Amino acid sequence: MNQYAQELRNTAKAMVAPNQGVLAMDESNGTCNKRFGKEGIEQTEEKRRQYRELILTTPDLGNYISGAILYDETIRQKKEDGTPFTQVMKDGDIIIGIKVDKGAKDLAGHPGEKVTEGLDGLRDRIAEYYQMGARFAKWRAVITIGEGIPTPACIEANAHALARYAALCQEGGLVPIVEPEVLIDGDHTIDRCYEVTDKTLRTVFDQLRTQGVEFDQMILKPSMVISGKQCTQQATPQQVAEQTIKCLRDNVPASVPGIAFLSGGQTPEQAAQHLHLMNSEPLKSLCPWRVTFSYARAIQQPALEHWKGQTNKVAEAQKLLHHRAQCNSAASMGNYSPEMEKQPAMV
Ligand code: 13P
Repeated sequence: MNQYAQELRNTAKAMVAPNQGVLAMDESNGTCNKRFGKEGIEQTEEKRRQYRELILTTPDLGNYISGAILYDETIRQKKEDGTPFTQVMKDGDIIIGIKVDKGAKDLAGHPGEKVTEGLDGLRDRIAEYYQMGARFAKWRAVITIGEGIPTPACIEANAHALARYAALCQEGGLVPIVEPEVLIDGDHTIDRCYEVTDKTLRTVFDQLRTQGVEFDQMILKPSMVISGKQCTQQATPQQVAEQTIKCLRDNVPASVPGIAFLSGGQTPEQAAQHLHLMNSEPLKSLCPWRVTFSYARAIQQPALEHWKGQTNKVAEAQKLLHHRAQCNSAASMGNYSPEMEKQPAMV
């Protein structure tokens, strides 16, 4: 038996505790710089550090956020006053998570498709992160919908890598967040998204089983079953919630303690509304797992747009971040309403 088994179970449960979800702030330097670029923010290590300090020092964040996923650069950074970010998180009751994949790269022989890399040397990196205080990890696989894609080659390669990553994490004491993201980009219908998500999740759980991953010691981070962004027929929020829960019920074992969605390009309001509907009757009683969020953009975006790299905007940006965390915490309990959007943190 794995020496970490009980610790892994406890961590997984804590990550999806009532009223709480996970904050993804693990953008790679490339992705973070791209988002900074759009806001006219200088793309430097120091600016990224300032931004991550803004997020992690948001007052009362730990009331809504159980854990935060960091990037390798961030887990080694400190506050301006010299306190390591890992200490700030421990003091704020926020579990330390770490992105361990090395990004989605072109899949050989399959134009338009990606496979996530990062298995080489992963055991050693996990040991280092555990020593630094991390207790969970994340690996994101990307599935693109288009003409003739995804191919079985893409789904199987990604599912296999996810399962090997998850097994290594559990061996090393980190709860794996298993993230197969079916991209929202494209003009596909919600039915097509359902078909692809269903196939992807089925393959991922087959591979997890094959690699001996313990389902009660992991968290699934899926995308929602939703119409493509460019689809002319957009499904209603209720349809998105229903189709997503149906797809998850058909594929996710009840022993998985929690499902924590990515926002994937939905607006902050959509992401909260969809999560709320899944946690409201009649869908809520169909869920054997806790259903919550692990959003990046749907929590951070308003704060980032307000901050724009300016020191005098930090407190107001933190209020916006706090408000989004609060809205999604409420949504994870079926207590969100669009009314909450009308009384955002006064900025
Ligand atoms: P978004 O919520 O912005 O999709 O990000 C979640 C995430 O962690 C992507 O890997």
